[in-house]
Amino acid sequence: MRQPRLLVARRLFGDLLEPLRAHYRLDVHDSDVPLSPAALTARLQGCWGLLASGTERVDAQLLAACPDLRAVSLVTVGFNNLDLPACQARGLLLSNAPGVLTEATADFGLALLLAAARRVGEGERFVRAGQWQGWAIDQFAGAPVAGTTLGVVGLGRIGAAIARRAHHGFGMRIVYSQRRASPEAVALQAQHLPQTDLLRLADHVVVMVPYGPDTHHLIGAAELALMKPSATLVNLARGGVVDDVALASALQSGRLAAAGLDVFEGEPAVHPHLLACPNAVLTPHIASSTLPTRRAMVQLAVDNLLAWAEGRPGPSPI
Ligand code: DGY
Repeated sequence: MRQPRLLVARRLFGDLLEPLRAHYRLDVHDSDVPLSPAALTARLQGCWGLLASGTERVDAQLLAACPDLRAVSLVTVGFNNLDLPACQARGLLLSNAPGVLTEATADFGLALLLAAARRVGEGERFVRAGQWQGWAIDQFAGAPVAGTTLGVVGLGRIGAAIARRAHHGFGMRIVYSQRRASPEAVALQAQHLPQTDLLRLADHVVVMVPYGPDTHHLIGAAELALMKPSATLVNLARGGVVDDVALASALQSGRLAAAGLDVFEGEPAVHPHLLACPNAVLTPHIASSTLPTRRAMVQLAVDNLLAWAEGRPGPSPI
């Protein structure tokens, strides 16, 4: 029997893909440059499965043009690139990669919070530019972090892992907002608040919610206006959850002290107003990027495909 065809839409770790060859004919787009929607559609002709990142968009239009597609396995936890109703209407097998990136991403959340609040980027650029003339009493004075209040918008797996670090490591009080109270909150003595109260109260805010129509610009001009002027906003979730233009304007006007951003609306493009903000620490969507974590993400996506090939349910269905 002919093996089903599987498109691997990104350069991943070749050694981890090898076991798939026992079950699938692989077509590997071995590149870090994503396929355009048209190229993805063309490349998917005759494919049963797609192994992709969070970038390749699978929507009704693509599905209509790819009638053989039956399965999509993502190496990312975020799956806002999938039009879920369209995929489910087609009865696709779907999986993502939750859990394996939680700790690495939470480490990075703390890194961004500390770097932005304590002005690490500004100080580093200052030294490299040869501008440092010596110690000064208030030089690059930042905002305190330890012992302050952290607002976590979205106390899911990663949000809770950030809160644990902040609470146990930095003695921070945790407040959080999301629709329902979180079971994680008890051990963190975390207080469940409406988002507006959280934004007013928190000294620093981390945003960690999935992106979708209900979270588009969840943090916009009105929300930023509620925050303390000394606060830091960290976005590790997805571009689009925060209104980047409103954020840049708050950072430029001094309405908000600092931001740490790993994700951007329309990335890899970054809004020029944000690029012009010295008080924003900007990183290229690398929060989960340690080699063991990125390999574990790929391995989980592969494990789903191997399970499907044997007619078993995968370990991490969507
Ligand atoms: C994810 O897994 O969704 C991350 O954003 C990619 O590192």
